[in-house]
Amino acid sequence: MTVEIATSREGGVLEIVLDRPRKKNAITAEMYGDLTRALREAETDAGVRVVLFRGNGDSFCAGNDLEDFAAHPPATADAPVFTFLNAASQATKPFVAAVHGSAVGIGTTLLLHCELVYAADDARFALPFTRLGLVPEFASSYLLPLIAGYHRAAELLLLGETFDARMAIDAGFVTRVVPREAVLETARDAARRLATLPPKSVQRTKILMRGPHAASVELQMKAEAEWFRPMLDEPAARAALEAFLGRTK
Ligand code: COA
Repeated sequence: MTVEIATSREGGVLEIVLDRPRKKNAITAEMYGDLTRALREAETDAGVRVVLFRGNGDSFCAGNDLEDFAAHPPATADAPVFTFLNAASQATKPFVAAVHGSAVGIGTTLLLHCELVYAADDARFALPFTRLGLVPEFASSYLLPLIAGYHRAAELLLLGETFDARMAIDAGFVTRVVPREAVLETARDAARRLATLPPKSVQRTKILMRGPHAASVELQMKAEAEWFRPMLDEPAARAALEAFLGRTK
């Protein structure tokens, strides 16, 4: 594990913490590797009944680390980011998320793979793929229309603008909005309650709910990645990445 992904166990709840607050918990390839390892361990460890995601500092997650992306573009299907997407989308233990501050890119698309999502009233979401000259990932181009309806999803995915927790509730992927100071405890409380239920029933209920969409999710992630990877090297994405990186110099 890097120091930027922390895990802790309390009872049957495994907490996975994005712990890179100075970079708003933007995720590097190394961090994706750690996240995948944590999820694989959670799958095989019968003692883990629920996985809870949260971010340290003032944000949940600012998405892929754009500097790391520019320096080491995920060129192949087995790149750490894609391995993580596969592990998360195939997980059978329920996912809970406590979201506050910024949740950008994968910081939002991860939530489509969670069962219970508690958002703080200060949460700000964005799916800025078109603005970055890219296409959506993590099957969000399939799951968001499914969850939010086509036109709501189109607004969020095509315009790529920042939206608040109320809009995320309307889009259907946030379970509840709570005051900032209560969000982690609300999520932990739900995770604990989930962890006390018969695990086979809980996991099989998740599998049954996800099952009808599993093949489509897998296919869509492949289709997205086939466009995403080469587009990273095209002028629109290069200009967007350079603009972001230049801004921070
Ligand atoms: N990749 C790499 N670094 C990032 C990052 C990302 N996705 N998001 C934030 N950071 C870094 C900033 O470069 C800055 O680093 P610095 O202090 O060394 O200059 C630091 O995190 C703080 O970010 P800042 O932009 O100053 O914070 P903010 O509160 O004003 O804005 C965000 C927060 C998340 C709205 C803004 O940082 C942002 O839009 N990030 C990019 C999001 C994105 O496009 N992600 C990719 C999706 S695929």
